[in-house]
Amino acid sequence: MLEPAEPPSPVGNHVYFLDRALDGMTTTLTELGDELVVIRPDLPDANTPYGLVTHCLGVLDYWAGHVIAGRVVRRDRAAEFRARGTVADLIARIDAARLRLRVDLSDIDTSASPRNLPDPEFLGPDRALDQGGVLLHILEELAQHRGQLEVLRDVLLAAAPRGDRSPFDPSLPWLAAKRGVKWRRPGPDQLPAWVADMDFPVAPPIRSAIIGAVDRGDLGYPDWPAPHPLATPFADRMRQRFDWNADPEHVRGLTDVIQGLQIVLDLTTEPGDAVVLQEPNYRPFRLAVPTMRRQAVQLHVVPHADSWRLDLDRLEADLETQPARVLLLVNPHNPTGRVLRRDELQALADIAERHDLLVVSDEIHADLVYRPAVHVPFASLGEHVAARTVTLTSATKAFNIAGLRTAVAHIGPDWLRERWDAEPPDIHGATGVLGVEATLAAWRDGDEWLAGVVDHLQRNRDRLVDGLSRIDGVDVRTPQAGYLAWVDCSGARPGVDVATLLQQQAQLYTSPGPDYGGAPDWVRLNFATSATLVEDMTRRMARALR
Ligand SMILES: Cc1ncc(COP(=O)(O)O)c(C=O)c1O
Repeated sequence: MLEPAEPPSPVGNHVYFLDRALDGMTTTLTELGDELVVIRPDLPDANTPYGLVTHCLGVLDYWAGHVIAGRVVRRDRAAEFRARGTVADLIARIDAARLRLRVDLSDIDTSASPRNLPDPEFLGPDRALDQGGVLLHILEELAQHRGQLEVLRDVLLAAAPRGDRSPFDPSLPWLAAKRGVKWRRPGPDQLPAWVADMDFPVAPPIRSAIIGAVDRGDLGYPDWPAPHPLATPFADRMRQRFDWNADPEHVRGLTDVIQGLQIVLDLTTEPGDAVVLQEPNYRPFRLAVPTMRRQAVQLHVVPHADSWRLDLDRLEADLETQPARVLLLVNPHNPTGRVLRRDELQALADIAERHDLLVVSDEIHADLVYRPAVHVPFASLGEHVAARTVTLTSATKAFNIAGLRTAVAHIGPDWLRERWDAEPPDIHGATGVLGVEATLAAWRDGDEWLAGVVDHLQRNRDRLVDGLSRIDGVDVRTPQAGYLAWVDCSGARPGVDVATLLQQQAQLYTSPGPDYGGAPDWVRLNFATSATLVEDMTRRMARALR
């Protein structure tokens, strides 16, 4: 394949911004899809999106190739606007044009006259330009047409029958207008694939529950005598979905799962005590242990066949030299998406028994497990196991309501519930009205929506794994749950900070491997978005890692 070097600055800067315009067009085209891309919207003198982008490729070819580089390009400008085809074929031509542009500019002399004069029939600047001026003209054309393309998109999407748009196919303007951290922090030019939020509209039962509370003016103090209003709904759900007889009296409310872990560590360990936790792991857990001045004993999650396994032999050996008090288990696991089988959980329970470990089991991804994997709650292994286990979970991952800050702890050990209940009553805060209403609605009426999400995510997962496996040097093991993929790019860019590379060269905002205890040439990708954007992610990765 053609691999020309980047032209030097300031030409390199121009190429950078031309690439950004082409990125924006690629995203807009994928968002439109094959059907809409060849439709002329109901606007005066409008072109089809396909025609407009083909015209941009003509501009690049003619002005950079013919005028700057002196390569002879014969152009049929009118035919550009009539062109038709599929989105995939147009994007392939955009990618080829990026490479061609680099070749055409490899010999540019910005202050010299153009190597060919433009045909006066083609509208361009009305004054003589040197090669640098021609390059600016190309940039002006692409910026202008990118804007036009977005107008075409908005009009076409607004006119498309609403029913055609699945809730799992959100539009880019809708996503970009979000105020949450996922879309806000990376900035408008980046495609976010990082923090574990999903890109879909709220499930209808949750929406109704929240609107209902607001319309009733019910945002005052709630009437919630103990037990917590989520206690029985939680226990019912565990019985129905996972065949676990959780005890409603053991349930306490929390604002979030990470809070649950910190309270347990505070109540059961002292600074200097050791805590076992998987490595790699969810970043806030990795940080909580040193922040609370506890020592981490790593339970290594290692590659095994086409998935991952826990290195339990090494853990047992490590516990001999560094006895621990607590084992924090994340199952299903973040970032690998591994779901532990019953026999693996039992082996872990045996270790907990031998070393007298309190187990804190984070099962927040349990509702997002893909068949044939099955979630087994740790505490469901038996009464002895339940008596040393705190289960932490919430509806926030599966139903995408993390902003509502509501979770539950099921506290198996009697002595720990006593300590928990002896804390000053307000020291840990309290769950809010809307979070509880939303969680109740999710658990009571949300399973149809959830089944649709799981189906969609599974298809996205397969699409992503398939796309990534076609990139030389990139390796990913299929997650069995959740919407996060733990991706090894060390074969493509050994030792490189791949998250930064993807941000800078592909405008793809991923989570860096080191945040999870991984190497810099690993990233975590979030695929809870539209199929279109998952394909866009794969394309961006392929381009940056090529
Ligand atoms: C394994 C795991 N636990 C906990 C959380 C966060 O939960 P919370 O927001 O309730 O602290 C996440 C979020 O991604 C997670 O992946």
